[in-house]
Amino acid sequence: MSEFGWASTTDEVLAGKDLSGKTVFVTGGNSGLGLETARAMAAKGARVVLAGRDRARLDEAAANITADHPDAHVETIVCDLSSLDSVRACGTEANKRFDKIDMLINNAGVMACPLSHTADGFELQFGTNHIGHFLLTKQLMPLIEAGEDKRIVNLSSRGHHIAPANLDDPNFENAPYDPWLSYGQSKTANVLFSVGLEQRFGSKGIHAYAVHPGGIDTNLGRHLSEEQAAALVERVTTSDPSFQWKSIPQGAATSVWAATAEQLEGKGGVYCEDCHVAPVDDQSTKGGVRSYALDQARADRLWAISEAMAGESFAA
Ligand SMILES: NC(=O)c1ccc[n+]([C@@H]2O[C@H](COP(=O)([O-])OP(=O)(O)OC[C@H]3O[C@@H](n4cnc5c(N)ncnc54)[C@H](OP(=O)(O)O)[C@@H]3O)[C@@H](O)[C@H]2O)c1
Repeated sequence: MSEFGWASTTDEVLAGKDLSGKTVFVTGGNSGLGLETARAMAAKGARVVLAGRDRARLDEAAANITADHPDAHVETIVCDLSSLDSVRACGTEANKRFDKIDMLINNAGVMACPLSHTADGFELQFGTNHIGHFLLTKQLMPLIEAGEDKRIVNLSSRGHHIAPANLDDPNFENAPYDPWLSYGQSKTANVLFSVGLEQRFGSKGIHAYAVHPGGIDTNLGRHLSEEQAAALVERVTTSDPSFQWKSIPQGAATSVWAATAEQLEGKGGVYCEDCHVAPVDDQSTKGGVRSYALDQARADRLWAISEAMAGESFAA
């Protein structure tokens, strides 16, 4: 059992840990949970790399961390996950600038946006939340292989309960587009990606964990109208009457727990929430991971589709 739970914060999870000498790479590191994950790990001595699509927002986020922690070692790198060219350029630059990555936190995400597409023509949520991270992880793999206690944390969501990933039509070319269905499918893909990574790289000492952070008021809801936001809260509180919002440090706690907890050593391919490994549950609306998100055959199929979409194969 984990000593931490729903209300634990990043600083509580990392209390007593020394991350000096570790390099942590956080996508979406300029905002919300990613910024808090980076801040908390930098405060424990890690060199943190904030990846984001906007240079000014990255600089502001780095300045915010160093204002709180003057000794923090914070760097930034531009990476737009909705463009394969940008992801490749980020990978090339990262391999020149850094000598290793110990922890990769694939945190960036976009939620329930109107139908739109990435630079490469993929539906935006699947393309950004999954395909962008798939290619970035592939690009960064030489650095991760050079790390110690190597972990990859993929931010998923309880939204994965909405649906399995539709691997026959990931870009909604045939099915009518639904912003929540798309979000749910992309978040299921984040869990399946963790399963696929664990299967291929676990024997090399690289372990992957999917995380549901909880419900936290961040910029993630930027695409929702007031009515849509109210409808979401009603849906969530109806399915889980005990629902409560977490603070941002509580929300990022499961990410830093998955990245550092000793009890997870060598035990990747799992889905974590509230600072513990969630049980498989195909019914509950209050938690747990759906079995379709941990299914090895689906993970393999997603891997093949992702390699085709990204136009690159992992050398396992
Ligand atoms: N908040 C919640 O309740 C909740 C619940 C479940 C799961 N999650 C997951 O937690 C993760 C973090 O979300 P958050 O709540 O911290 O939201 P947030 O504050 O909106 O942060 C999302 C981050 O993703 C970045 N991003 C979006 N599109 C990008 C792109 N094309 N390229 C690069 N970066 C991009 C954003 O950059 P910009 O600032 O430039 O837009 C931002 O830094 C997401 O994966 C989300 O699905 C959150």
